[in-house]
Amino acid sequence: MDPSLLQCAVDLLAPAESVAVLTGAGISAESGIPTFRGPDGFWKGFRPEEVATPEAFARDPKLVWDFYNYRRRLLGQVQPNAAHYALARLEAALPEFTLITQNVDGLHRLAGSRNVLEVHGNLWRVRCTGCGAVFDKPRVSLPELPACERCGKLLRPDVVWFGEMLSEAVWAEAMAATGACDCFMVIGTSALVHPAAGLVWTARQHGARVLEVNLEATPASEVADVSLYGKAREILPDLVARAIEQRHG
Ligand code: OAD
Repeated sequence: MDPSLLQCAVDLLAPAESVAVLTGAGISAESGIPTFRGPDGFWKGFRPEEVATPEAFARDPKLVWDFYNYRRRLLGQVQPNAAHYALARLEAALPEFTLITQNVDGLHRLAGSRNVLEVHGNLWRVRCTGCGAVFDKPRVSLPELPACERCGKLLRPDVVWFGEMLSEAVWAEAMAATGACDCFMVIGTSALVHPAAGLVWTARQHGARVLEVNLEATPASEVADVSLYGKAREILPDLVARAIEQRHG
């Protein structure tokens, strides 16, 4: 990492009073969860239209549940990494902080982040296709076709599938935080899936400085004031520690 580039990022983050962060699968990659679009990504082994759409679930709920039960098992074995913990530390040091995540893995909360908006849902939650009841089912294995304990209808993962709307309430909070922040961080996302990715441009339009952390350039790089290329787990602890130190010093 070029030290002067890192210092630019520190200078951008340190004075911020209100920070919003958008994270994607890349921040959890080093916890051992595959991303979606990389060479070993989920979408190389599974076709989204077969396992992550309402139509796929209507056609073959068992196949869809196989995919989500596989991901739940995987998630049961992993822990947050230093990048998740660094964001929790940053939150504790700032007056206004909102963590908007596309990830459904719950690792940000596990690392201690509090103000977390999970715009694509959560893998540990299930929702009834009949009565709409939502249940928390963390770290337990579910049957192949789980049924609602209230009405007996089929449960589905409480995540957002392709072609579905995001929760209006969660999205409104994400937009408000993005519009109000003076620094917007975009971390470990290909910035390809909208509407979440569009938050980067919203932040920019509202005058926020944009700071990106990713292995490689993405569409967000075009509007970022500073892009740091490398692993989030290696960059964020140092960036956050130095920004907090500079803020107090
Ligand atoms: P992607 O798989 O599209 O992108 C992951 C990004 O993380 C890429 O830009 C990588 O370069 C970067 N990356 C990988 N490892 C990294 C590391 N160690 N440190 C920093 N960056 C790293 O995942 P998302 O952008 O999260 O949606 O995908 C967005 C949405 O598409 C997901 O929420 C999911 C998916 O289909 C739904 O399921 C609705």
